[in-house]
Amino acid sequence: MQGGISRKTLFKAALIATPVPLLAGQVPALARQTAESGEPLTPTPYCDDGDDPTIPQTEGPYFKPNSPQRTVLPGAGTPLTVSGYVFGLACQPLANVLLDFWQADNNGAYDNITYNFRGHQYTNAQGAFKLTTIVPGLYPGRTRHIHVKAQAPGRPILTTQLYFPGEPRNNTDTIFDPRLLMTVRTVGTGKEATFDFVLNVPGVPPTDPPTSPPPGGGTWQVGVTYQAGDRVTYGGATYRCLQGHQAQAGWEPPNVPALWQRA
Ligand SMILES: [Fe+2]
Repeated sequence: MQGGISRKTLFKAALIATPVPLLAGQVPALARQTAESGEPLTPTPYCDDGDDPTIPQTEGPYFKPNSPQRTVLPGAGTPLTVSGYVFGLACQPLANVLLDFWQADNNGAYDNITYNFRGHQYTNAQGAFKLTTIVPGLYPGRTRHIHVKAQAPGRPILTTQLYFPGEPRNNTDTIFDPRLLMTVRTVGTGKEATFDFVLNVPGVPPTDPPTSPPPGGGTWQVGVTYQAGDRVTYGGATYRCLQGHQAQAGWEPPNVPALWQRA
């Protein structure tokens, strides 16, 4: 299917992403799991701080623009991947969302001279992203965190941070927000983290074409190969196939007169 990912697929993805049961109350549910309830999603909270690097002798942007486009931030440390989806309020996957990550190195230091541990990427057609990096070191006075700016095309920027469960400093960090906890599991010598962003983008819930019955019912079905002359019903009407093809979502008989003629 194009331009989206079904809820069922998302739920499967969630199961794959978190095969290890989490301790109750350890982390909030991923947005893809919350979406199973059919409720509108809550936007990812805004979260910023002042500990980001400032260029000496200048006012200092704490965010350094023009990071390289890359999904891998190389460097020494404990390997970490962060993956997930970006959704709109109706749980629609958002493609081409700019995600700009920056973080401290293994020693808790930010690179303010070059672009070590800084990089931006875009979500794919399914709204998915994956960052390959290291577990950031502890910056003085803060709990462990990763910075990110997220922006859907033509929408405002969300500036926020992602946190790690079980960090002692989570309890004392005044900026920490449990809604920004990633799910993290240990895999070999590294860590695999998962987080779903929810941006304040209105929209309609994605449909699930393979299981969505046509309005009014009918025998026409996505995925079926029809031959010229076949007859189906759709939306209470009967159609005759004019040309052999495999049915796809969006190619419902009333929509494609080249393929189907009302009988
Ligand atoms: Fe920071």
